[in-house]
Amino acid sequence: MLDLILRQARLPDRQGPLDIGIEADRVAAIAPQISAEARTEMDVAGRLVSPPFTDPHFHMDATLSLGTPRLNVSGTLLEGIALWGELKPLLTPEAVMERALRYCDLAVSQGLLSIRSHVDVCDDNLTAVEALVEVRKIVAPYIDLQLVAFPQDGLYRSATAEANLLRALDMGVDVVGGIPHFERTMEDGARSVVRLCEIAAERGLMVDLHCDESDDPMSRHVETLAAETTRLGLGGRVTASHVTAMHSYDNYYASKLIPLIAESGMNIIPNPLINITLQGRSDTYPRRRGLTRVPELRAAGVNVSFGQDCTMDPWYSLGSGDMLDVAHMGIHAVPMTSREAMDWAFTSVTVNGARTMGLPDPTIREGGPANMVVLQAHDPIEAVRLRATRLAVIKHGKIISRTEPRIVRLTLPDRPETLDPADYAPTAQDQ
Ligand code: FE2
Repeated sequence: MLDLILRQARLPDRQGPLDIGIEADRVAAIAPQISAEARTEMDVAGRLVSPPFTDPHFHMDATLSLGTPRLNVSGTLLEGIALWGELKPLLTPEAVMERALRYCDLAVSQGLLSIRSHVDVCDDNLTAVEALVEVRKIVAPYIDLQLVAFPQDGLYRSATAEANLLRALDMGVDVVGGIPHFERTMEDGARSVVRLCEIAAERGLMVDLHCDESDDPMSRHVETLAAETTRLGLGGRVTASHVTAMHSYDNYYASKLIPLIAESGMNIIPNPLINITLQGRSDTYPRRRGLTRVPELRAAGVNVSFGQDCTMDPWYSLGSGDMLDVAHMGIHAVPMTSREAMDWAFTSVTVNGARTMGLPDPTIREGGPANMVVLQAHDPIEAVRLRATRLAVIKHGKIISRTEPRIVRLTLPDRPETLDPADYAPTAQDQ
């Protein structure tokens, strides 16, 4: 007797409808037809069952704070940082926890079960660190929450940032963060990259820097980060987030840089929802998109995973914890519209994100953990196209969230009475 069977599921990486049998918190069997019985059965009816979504780049200390104490008028990154600076002295641990936990509820409903969140350490009280360490404990049964010690005001530009960053790591923050392009000079930026990588190497930690989130073609800190990653042998423990300046680099320089990134083994996180709105703000026309070079990085074998970055905070008024929304924007903003690339965009927000975070491969397989999402779509591209409803979210073999399918009721003469958006077109597998 199994605990749960999902009947007639489609998996992103396997052909044909399959039954998935779950015992306790493991996948016990995957087969065309499982004859055993289960305490609970769910007829998935040919819909997609995927690994849970992963967001490798988020700011949980700022989420859901939109409008406090005021809105970002210019819409720029720099006004966002200034606005966050106004909000920081007003933070209380209770308020940060309340917003973060509310966001985690939303994340679960979206099948988003792994999140790496930066947490600002440029506050001598470390209020947000204290709050998010507590939140990490509370949500641990259902969300893998990783915290990055992020010196938002600059490791060297803020007098107490380095001491605070070390204190935050002592408090159990998981990853070393930084923001080299925001330091006072290029030299300070490069120096911060070296120092932060050495701290990570000494402590056996991962590194994730906001790196070259700028339209300045001379912002080249990712070069130093790749070199330090290679020098210290940190490999896949290192991530460069945003890297938007790469959009504006000279092609010749990019052709030298990308192999160095690949050689280092580091990961890259583009954040398409945010950078399509923040970048190019000082341009007239033509206006740069400002996304990093995803197809070229992929072609070089670099692990690329899209991140969300923000939901309703000083930098971004929209967002809904939906990584399909992030993949959808990535496909448009890069742009990358072949079926192979759109399919990859789905992998980017599931499997690749887990790899960036140093988590085990979440691909659904026999003997693997029973963590998965049932989507109202037949394949990954349709899931992205529809930002498909998460019919069920399963963690450790238990259904932790359910959403009713989206069925439209029509009252048109001589037309069907209902419309399921996921039955609207032939799927890729039927073509
Ligand atoms: Fe960020």
